[in-house]
Amino acid sequence: MAGRAAIVGWGTAVPEQRLTNADLEQRVETSDEWIVERTGIRERRYAADGETTASLAIEAGTAAIKQAGITPEEIDLVIVATATPEQPIPHTGAFVCDGLGVHCGSFDLGAGCAGFVYELVTGSALLTAGNLRHVLVIGAETLSRVVDPRDRGTCILFGDGAAGVVLAPSTDDGPGLLAWDLGCDGSATGLLGIPSGGSRRPATPETIAAGEQYIKMQGQEVFKRAVRAVVESVKRALALAGMTGADVDWFVPHQANARIIEAAAARLGIPAERTIVNIDRFGNTSAASIPLAMAEAADTGRLEDGAVVLMSGFGAGMTWGSAVVRWGRP
Ligand code: ACO
Repeated sequence: MAGRAAIVGWGTAVPEQRLTNADLEQRVETSDEWIVERTGIRERRYAADGETTASLAIEAGTAAIKQAGITPEEIDLVIVATATPEQPIPHTGAFVCDGLGVHCGSFDLGAGCAGFVYELVTGSALLTAGNLRHVLVIGAETLSRVVDPRDRGTCILFGDGAAGVVLAPSTDDGPGLLAWDLGCDGSATGLLGIPSGGSRRPATPETIAAGEQYIKMQGQEVFKRAVRAVVESVKRALALAGMTGADVDWFVPHQANARIIEAAAARLGIPAERTIVNIDRFGNTSAASIPLAMAEAADTGRLEDGAVVLMSGFGAGMTWGSAVVRWGRP
């Protein structure tokens, strides 16, 4: 199929409410110093009552559509990547389509914190295969609703937010998605997840009493695998694009831990000045983290037309995904 898909609009939505490290010091045995040194996080956003994954996704999607200079009727497909859906059935995209006032196809995509890269690749492929006018891809999360407020190993990390982009057709040699790499090592399902509430272990009073509705994570092991997964995945994606780290103008990594970002960037030969980091203000927002960081970089004029933008994420599964994009409108 001819042509590629380009990013022609972007938008974000984050709750007003902030949870600072000082707030966390009141809840669990931790310190601002420990959190900043080990993670780089200073505060995260927390959804207020009534704010949900879909409400944040609708706000981000509306902003992206406006920024693209189109109307919702010009969207032919809506994909929402999330690990914290609106409810188990129906999928979050249904609520988002309703909020946007559209009746096009929509589905959710689950690939943990790699979700945005997965939906960028999927949305681009469907756009070109189906001759679609525009595809809206959104990463949206309310992780505050699945974090155990007493678990200092996880409650310091996660936050809420949403961000999305509008994809439109571009030419074979125009801006857009140049190359990508996706992967999953399902032998690592036990390292990070929510044990109950699914078909494997339906929620019961006992599972709830045991706190199994909350995220459980083996942090150190995830850390080690994350650095390796990002470095290897990025290398594969760059090789497919005929590039090396030296060709990357902006690296937009998943914001999970500042030390993971630093370690991966160093191994890829990408300097800190070309790496987008906003984890200090938002923590880990899973599928929303890459588009949130990318949108901020775009809004502050850092992503110039023609720039090579490299995204890479990893997450529960464990999944990973990297995408090389040439920035700009067709
Ligand atoms: N405050 C103070 N002390 C703490 C805290 C805390 N919040 N958390 C742990 N500690 C203690 C531990 O108990 C341990 O103490 P000990 O030595 O007396 O046993 C010590 O600090 C060191 O603990 P580690 O777990 O080794 O700390 P580490 O440096 O690995 O940092 C962290 C922990 C931040 C969780 C880190 O491992 C990490 O970021 N891992 C990756 C997590 C990640 O990226 N997850 C997202 C994946 S994406 C997705 O799909 C959701």
